[in-house]
Formats: sequence, structure tokens, C-alpha cells
Amino acid sequence: MNLTLKIWRQKNADHKGKMVDYAISNISPDMSFLEMLDVLNEQLINKGKEPVAFDHDCREGICGTCSLYINGEAHGPDRDITTCQLHMRKFNDGDTIYIEPFRAKAFPVIKDLIVDRSAFDRIQHAGGFISVNTSGNTVDADTIPINKHDADKSFDAATCIGCGACVASCKNSSAMLFVAAKVSQFALLPQGKVEAADRVLNMVKQMDLEGFGNCTNTGACEVECPKGISLENIARLNREYLKASFKG
Ligand code: SF4
Ligand code: FES
Repeated sequence: MNLTLKIWRQKNADHKGKMVDYAISNISPDMSFLEMLDVLNEQLINKGKEPVAFDHDCREGICGTCSLYINGEAHGPDRDITTCQLHMRKFNDGDTIYIEPFRAKAFPVIKDLIVDRSAFDRIQHAGGFISVNTSGNTVDADTIPINKHDADKSFDAATCIGCGACVASCKNSSAMLFVAAKVSQFALLPQGKVEAADRVLNMVKQMDLEGFGNCTNTGACEVECPKGISLENIARLNREYLKASFKG
């Protein structure tokens, strides 16, 4: 395949970025999208040019690090996959492909296609955990009966990999789907109930402090989420928030 790539290049957060054109040839349809970028970078390095900076780690859809906006969609044209799982066979010979970073005020560009998603870490630190005393005779979590429906729903929510595609796809740059997944995975389990009120209030407070926008139920987040996190988690987050507010 021969392709034209239009890639966002930006030296750092203080510089203005711009789209730069690259022609790339002999790309196998069986290559992953990131392997195609590896080939481009090898060519740029061989020519003494600066390679394109992009985020990646596991390259198997687990870590949530890869984060490209491809032809106007977070993680590209395929559904329910991350950028690292996208293959070049999804494109046609001769295509022009636009590659940009995830854009949101709360995700400032660090360099080229890499954005700072530490806002998500700070939201997690605000309450995305359960406190367990591990000294002494801690009760084995598996001995607490949990009905299958709740266990399945909690597991579904826990598959969120914190990639940020929901934010990048939302016209308001809302982080509600991410926070909803993190709150839901605990809200459905007995282990999560003890700190439930503090968790939801603190995580939503941190989300607002980070500068994410409001949720207006457009649903773009659900469509672009590589893990299929459902909007029903946002409804659960809203219920948890309301309950916690009345308690306080
Ligand atoms: S909810 Fe989906 S899109 Fe948002 S961070 Fe989690 S996995 Fe990524
Ligand atoms: S590199 Fe880990 S999910 Fe894509």
C-alpha cells in the first residue's frame, strides 16, 4: 500500500503545532497501525529527521496508552479496539490518513501525538480504590457472595483501560464515562460500598477541578470506547452522586 499521512507535529506544549505531510510506500495490509508508524519513524531517522512521537506500551489493547485520533475518530475507524489493534487492511491503497493527538483542554499536548493524561491518575487517586487492612486475618474476598448480575456488570465496568478516547470523542471533553466506569466497578460490589459516598464525591470533584466538560448525553463516548463501556454506567454514577449528596 502507498499512503499519504497527514500527521500533527508539535515540538512541545508551548509551541504551535501543524499538520505535516509524509508519503509512505510498500506498507503491508497485515501491519498494525503502530507498525506502520514505526516504519515511517525508521525512514525519518535514516534521513536524519526527528521521528514522530506517539504513545504505546503493551500493543495488545490492555494498557490504554496508545491514543491516536485517526481520520477524525479516537482509535480509528474500527469499533471496540484500541489504536494498537488497528490494522492497515482497514485502509485502501492510495488513502490519505489524518493522524492527530487526543484533543481536550485537560489533556495538554506534550509532543506531537503524545498528550498528558495524568488528570485521569489524579481522579483515580481521589477515590478509585478500596481501603483494605491487609495485616492480620483479612477475609478472603471470594468468600463474600455476590450475585452474578452484579459481578458481571462490575467486571464490564472494570474493563475500562483509561485510554481517554471518551474524552477525545466528546464535544464537551467530558470524562464522565471514565469516572462512571471507575465508580461503577466498586458501587456494584459489597467491598466498594464502605467508601462509596466519599469515592463518588471526591472523584467527581477532582474531575471538575481538572477542567473536563459536562456530560450532555450525546453518547459519542460509548461509540468510540474500545472496551464498550456502556452509558448505563453514567446513569449509575449520577445515582451514586445523588445518594452521596443527600447523605452529606
Ligand atoms: S471509558 Fe472507554 S474510552 Fe473512556 S477511558 Fe475507559 S476504556 Fe477508554
Ligand atoms: S499500546 Fe496498550 S492498549 Fe494500545
